[in-house]
Amino acid sequence: SNKIQELKPSGYTLLGVMGDPIAHSKSPAMHQAALYKTGIHGDYVPLHVKPEGLDAAVKGIKSMGFRGVNVTIPHKVEIMSYMDELDDSAKLTGAVNTVVHEEGRLIGYNTDGAGYVRSLKEEAISSLEGKLIVVIGAGGAARGIVYALLLESPASVTILNRTMERAEKMAADFKAMGQVQGLPISEAHHALLHADIIINTTSVGMHPNLHETPIEQDALPEGVVVSDLIYNPLETKLLSIAKEKKCIIHGGLGMFIYQGAIAFEHWFGIPAPVHAMRKAVLESF
Ligand code: ATR
Repeated sequence: SNKIQELKPSGYTLLGVMGDPIAHSKSPAMHQAALYKTGIHGDYVPLHVKPEGLDAAVKGIKSMGFRGVNVTIPHKVEIMSYMDELDDSAKLTGAVNTVVHEEGRLIGYNTDGAGYVRSLKEEAISSLEGKLIVVIGAGGAARGIVYALLLESPASVTILNRTMERAEKMAADFKAMGQVQGLPISEAHHALLHADIIINTTSVGMHPNLHETPIEQDALPEGVVVSDLIYNPLETKLLSIAKEKKCIIHGGLGMFIYQGAIAFEHWFGIPAPVHAMRKAVLESF
């Protein structure tokens, strides 16, 4: 609430999301609802920024007095070099999705991984301590999630990837944080059989490829947690075959909501109105 007081003098708080494309982003609807619900006078706007315009756009955060921005495809990695300071979440995942403008200084955070873990714990499994976790995919999305998962003291994180080298490289990068290994997806049988939590971070199964799944039903154990980062569709093929095996299923919408909630908390220092944010996103579909 102190932070809100500080923002009051100008009487108006400006926020936005930078990306290319940006027209279909659900962040403006979600954050407008959050501002309204918390009584903060301000706006959160879509900012169509092309790669060649990123430099000027970032300077604009300072010159136009934005409190902060979210950053999406294709700028998450490139924007790092413009930050005055990087939080560990950004440093260790190599990407920024949230910028906080603090009196002329830009601080870069990555709330994707923490958002994912908060959603998983709220919606599917209360603690990750001691769990055997399998992550499918070794791209940018997997990186943020593996980082956040390792902060929760799991027994192990196994990264499965079509291209084994990427899985092994990522495992090596996070070795200092806990028990983590990389495997080719073709050798995944044993890891999947013993998993407590299986997480898809690839785009396999995303709209319009509704019938694709990164792993087949035979490879899924019964009754475990199966999570998919995809939220279009809300229930992927992977989740529907997992449901048939009596698994607890967890979709990607919660990750989107909570990455926004944590960003909001960085900007304002008060709890985000998660319920209002989720409602706004669901209504915008
Ligand atoms: P993102 O930032 O969304 O994670 P990315 O960095 O391009 O995107 O990574 C995409 C991930 O999905 C990778 O792990 C990729 O596997 P490869 O490293 O082998 O390319 C995985 N992926 C994408 N399409 C796939 C497919 N059809 N089958 C299996 N894995 C796939």
